Amino acid sequence: MTELSALAPEDLQHLRTDLMQRYTAICDRKLSLDITRGKPSPEQLDLSNGLLEMVSSQDFHSAEGVDCRNYGGLDGLPEARTLFAAYMDVAPEEIIIGGNSSLNLMYDTFLRAMQHGVGGDAPPWSRQPAIKFICPSPGYDRHFAICEQLGIEMLPVAMTADGPDMDAVESLAAQDASVKGIWCVPIYSNPTGAVYSDDTVDRLARMTTRAADFRIFWDNAYAVHYFGERPARVRSILGACKAAGNPDRPFLFGSTSKITFPGAGLAMMAGSTRNMSWVRDHLFFQTIGPDKLNQLRHVRFFSDLAGIHAHMEKHAAIVRPRFQAVQEILTDELAGKGIASWTRPEGGYFVSFDAPEGCARAIVKMAAEAGVKLTPAGSTYPLKKDPRDNNIRVAPTFASVGDVRTAVEVLAICTQIVAIDQLPV
Ligand SMILES: Cc1ncc(COP(=O)(O)O)c(C=O)c1O
Repeated sequence: MTELSALAPEDLQHLRTDLMQRYTAICDRKLSLDITRGKPSPEQLDLSNGLLEMVSSQDFHSAEGVDCRNYGGLDGLPEARTLFAAYMDVAPEEIIIGGNSSLNLMYDTFLRAMQHGVGGDAPPWSRQPAIKFICPSPGYDRHFAICEQLGIEMLPVAMTADGPDMDAVESLAAQDASVKGIWCVPIYSNPTGAVYSDDTVDRLARMTTRAADFRIFWDNAYAVHYFGERPARVRSILGACKAAGNPDRPFLFGSTSKITFPGAGLAMMAGSTRNMSWVRDHLFFQTIGPDKLNQLRHVRFFSDLAGIHAHMEKHAAIVRPRFQAVQEILTDELAGKGIASWTRPEGGYFVSFDAPEGCARAIVKMAAEAGVKLTPAGSTYPLKKDPRDNNIRVAPTFASVGDVRTAVEVLAICTQIVAIDQLPV
């Protein structure tokens, strides 16, 4: 395949005419496709319907005889803590099972840090003149939205296949006491699919931080969400931080949103016993207890970590063809043309697509006009400002395989047209 920039002007013009014909034909189909958000498909949700039968009007007591219909149990049912401690690679006393959303736990944790400080003598972050957070980018828009809403300055650092650019992270953390933390999605990262290497984990755990109250927000949203050859494993951040003498540095988060039901699953937070007692102290003022019936449902549905893995194999079988479709279409349409690159994740919910610089907004607009909704350009960067205007997040799980193929074909066609129009004539 010849790179577009090497084509003779008349060949380029021919190609553009062909592409425009295809584009117009697609517009005539009046499509309405959406690959914007990482949602499980209805087929995936069906996998967990059995959950709804795990508790009945005759059977709502926990293993220890707790009546799960009533108040109490601030940090979760013991059997739920045991199951999800294994899932999060921590001890049962290092985890709290919360409500239905890990994003909610992250937001609450941020607010607590702002209002009260992160425990001990640490002053509230909001009392300090400025707070900054390291934001590996492209990253998860909702993490950045929390910082934006709370007036926290975001410091983007590049993502690599092994995690954030650690030279940049170490330098920012070491220099400035107002740098209070970093967002991390350590496995099948949103949106690149990157898996943090052992070296990245170790460097995060042992790096010098000018702020004594520096925290890693470790969002383990895709811990077991593989569809490749075999599950990836990330070194335990809590273990590494303990070994480095920084046991309180990480706050770990996770949920079953993309294992069972998003919005009706379980969310969890983990960390050192000191951090967990800090959370519990604040939780006391916030709630009298979580939804234990839902915790009981989940424990009965999965039994153990092997049960979660077996369930995820079923998700993988549904999700894999959609990701394969993305790779096939992008390769057929764009490989070797020198205008785009994209990630080949082995798990998670996204593919990160890089168009030529300065083209992402135009591509997203053009695709929308053909009836294909892509994640708004810029969403994967702090303040929605992609400095190169080239990154687009593709979320193929919710649509059918056929719709994914069509949507990605439109992305590829629009990318080529916009790229050709940008070439010097
Ligand atoms: C990285 C990441 N964290 C958290 C969430 C949301 O999790 P929850 O449903 O537990 O709030 C998502 C959802 O897309 C995500 O991609």
